[in-house]
Amino acid sequence: MYDIKQIRKDFPVLTRPINGKPNTFLDTAASAQKPQCVIDCMMNIYTREYSNVHRGSYLLSEEITSEYEKSRDIVRKFLNAQDSSEIIFTRNATESINLIASSWGRKFLTKMDEVLISEAEHHANLVPWQVLRDEIGFELKIFKINDDGSFNWDEYQRHLNGKTALVAITGMSNVLGTIFPLKEMIGAAHQVGAKVLVDGCQYVVHQPVDVKDLDCDFLAFSGHKTYGPSGIGVLYGKQQLLEAMPPYQYGGDMVDVVTYQTTTFDVPPARFEAGTPAIVQAIGLGAALKYMMNIGMDNIHNHEKELTAYMRLRLAEIDGLKEVGTAEDKGGVFSINIDGIHPQDLAFILDKEGVSVRVGHHCAAPLVRRMGYESLARASLGLYSNKEDVDRFIAALQKAKTFF
Ligand code: ALA
Repeated sequence: MYDIKQIRKDFPVLTRPINGKPNTFLDTAASAQKPQCVIDCMMNIYTREYSNVHRGSYLLSEEITSEYEKSRDIVRKFLNAQDSSEIIFTRNATESINLIASSWGRKFLTKMDEVLISEAEHHANLVPWQVLRDEIGFELKIFKINDDGSFNWDEYQRHLNGKTALVAITGMSNVLGTIFPLKEMIGAAHQVGAKVLVDGCQYVVHQPVDVKDLDCDFLAFSGHKTYGPSGIGVLYGKQQLLEAMPPYQYGGDMVDVVTYQTTTFDVPPARFEAGTPAIVQAIGLGAALKYMMNIGMDNIHNHEKELTAYMRLRLAEIDGLKEVGTAEDKGGVFSINIDGIHPQDLAFILDKEGVSVRVGHHCAAPLVRRMGYESLARASLGLYSNKEDVDRFIAALQKAKTFF
């Protein structure tokens, strides 16, 4: 039994009226709201426990270092990674992907190689590869998705070959909601000897994830989308691969022996966490992941699946509305266009009705263009979304139509 009423009570912001209307927050794909336990956890650290990690030999520092490392282990558990040394804290998923491009990419990619991505990638999983391609000279290949936004297996396989060194793919599109068949895709990539990086930003929020079962080589996600704070992200990497990678940034806490002449570096994860990390954010992320695991990732998935089906039924009632991205395997992300209404105007009217949606190219401009648009309005669901949110959204869309 998914106790949605109780769950909504965990998120204080949901009780705040927006423009005098009930708060209908449908922008979780951009950033999720925070449960009270995450807010309390972070407040408590600043109030009672704060100091730097890995540096002091006094009680406060020992306590917070232990909390910080415990949080790393919560992430390990959330992803079902083998060892917590495979979990690196970064600023966000963008930094995690840039870390792979700068460190692994610069060391292991050559101009003879190919890097394969999909048409459905966020800028964060496109631009770093374009820049690195221009530096190294490898070929950046992009496989097409179907016009309804679904994954095209033949198209994917057609691009895999002995030169493919890296496949960098989203697990779930932030524009179309399409969920990629990761396990099969990773298996096929490994058959040609490629490594696989998963941009798990949207994917890990909505279903259980098991990096051992998926067998991905790297996976990136952001804390703020998993009900944790902003300013913290995660890079998972298989131990052997991380150990072979050079540091990404240099400074304190990532070194072994330093002399005026030369320096040796620590082992992962410390090797990739130069400088004072986002201490409180990392611990807040642990609290958020624990919160999700307590509800149960399967339960979250089933709740959102049911709500996704309901949303799609209700969207179909609106004349002139096009849902962009209608893959069967789709999560709770709904990019829409309504004939005769600019998405920006639509979002403005929705806001007056207390409905928050994102509008624009969603940091995936080539994908939005490929789907035939310059801009789209997007509603997205979270674990706290309910049928009333959907009903208020549909009523607000109907009202918007009366203005045009
Ligand atoms: N990548 C986030 C989104 O899709 C910010 O809105």
